[in-house]
Amino acid sequence: MKLKLRPMIEKDISDVYKIECILFNDPWPKKSFKTEIEQNNVSFPFIAEENNEIIGYIICWYYIDKLHIGNIAVVPKRQRQGIGKYMLHKVFEYFYEYKKAFLEVRESNKNAINLYLTFGFEAIYRKTAYYPNGEDALVMVKNRLINH
Ligand SMILES: CC(C)(COP(=O)(O)OP(=O)(O)OC[C@H]1O[C@@H](n2cnc3c(N)ncnc32)[C@H](O)[C@@H]1OP(=O)(O)O)[C@@H](O)C(=O)NCCC(=O)NCCS
Repeated sequence: MKLKLRPMIEKDISDVYKIECILFNDPWPKKSFKTEIEQNNVSFPFIAEENNEIIGYIICWYYIDKLHIGNIAVVPKRQRQGIGKYMLHKVFEYFYEYKKAFLEVRESNKNAINLYLTFGFEAIYRKTAYYPNGEDALVMVKNRLINH
């Protein structure tokens, strides 16, 4: 089985949006994915693909030396098999010069929080009632260790 991470293209959007709607109660609008593909000087949407099948995606924004993980998702049948870790590893490899990485996560999303903790993210503050259902977001940050 050949797993790879590649840039998202417009023809992926309908499959990505189906996955987004399965996984999230408040999915990103379909047109957001198109916008992300088009803003390619800052936005870097990637697909995890195995045997020509989309099994996950990750949307990153990279500006100067800040990496923001905007969205990450793995299809239900492939969760807990290392795909989330794989995508994050690849992204950190790709943006190896980042200084700080950020993300927001629902306070209740323990699976995602565990994943981020294993990558060295720490929760630094809370955005109260950030999500449409009133739930708080935790803002998590990871600093790249720089050897002098
Ligand atoms: C969060 C998500 C992307 C993780 O991807 P994944 O491929 O399932 O995760 P991995 O198999 O790479 O797991 C990596 C680590 O994450 C944590 N984790 C992932 N799923 C978990 C679960 N069901 N229970 C507990 N910890 C979990 C564990 O620490 C795990 O490491 P371990 O397997 O060595 O214990 C995936 O569960 C998902 O798509 N969830 C729905 C969408 C979502 O919530 N996205 C995050 C928005 S902020």
